Amino acid sequence: MPQDRAPIAVALDAPDVETAARWAQAVTPYVAVVKVGLELFCRSGPSVVETVRGGTGVGLFLDLKLHDIPNTVAGAARSVARLKPLYLTVHASGGADMVRAAVEAAPDVTIAAVTVLTSLGDASLEQIGMAGPSRDAVRRLAALAVGAGAGALVCSPQEVAAVREEVGPHIVLITPGVRPAGSEADDQARIATPQQALSNGADLLVIGRPITGAKDPGAAAATIAASL
Ligand code: C5P
Repeated sequence: MPQDRAPIAVALDAPDVETAARWAQAVTPYVAVVKVGLELFCRSGPSVVETVRGGTGVGLFLDLKLHDIPNTVAGAARSVARLKPLYLTVHASGGADMVRAAVEAAPDVTIAAVTVLTSLGDASLEQIGMAGPSRDAVRRLAALAVGAGAGALVCSPQEVAAVREEVGPHIVLITPGVRPAGSEADDQARIATPQQALSNGADLLVIGRPITGAKDPGAAAATIAASL
């Protein structure tokens, strides 16, 4: 990940690959990472990665949130490892063997485990058999994933301090739900400013619409980067 750029992963949640490439080109002078998610990857296929990277050396966060039996996740992780992402996401709730399978199948990729989706409230968690405060589940799954070799965790800015306490200083903590002061929350419920998220212990901030929805995404990325 380029060290001279801001610790931001711009979420390229674009309707088509041309738009994603345009956004990527505009922001890569300022941010260290761009994030390709399920929608773009499923629509455009693995070639989208080279298109958005465009030879710039920007880090790639491949947010595929893999969740299946260990053998299948290992195969998928091996398949996408050739794209050389910095980070690849898997669901910690797939279990320790599944997380370990991804780690072993893609040794040059940092496996980032998603603990509890921020879209799941306490009632939804109870429905899927995870009764109790979500914070407990987050800490439990964080410890499980790190024990299985995950080098990074995805968590909300509200959880990041508790997760840092659980896993220590060497695990990369990645937080979505980041909104500069004064910008729209969109559909994000638990938000924090970039400065708050970093001071709570985040290492990499996932930011989408405040940058990609701006008239000039490059200028928006530059402003946020300069504020850090
Ligand atoms: O546009 P916005 O800044 O809300 O984008 C946040 C990005 O982070 C989106 O790509 C979203 O899918 C992702 N994400 C999230 N919450 C999670 C995990 C991932 O918002 N818990």
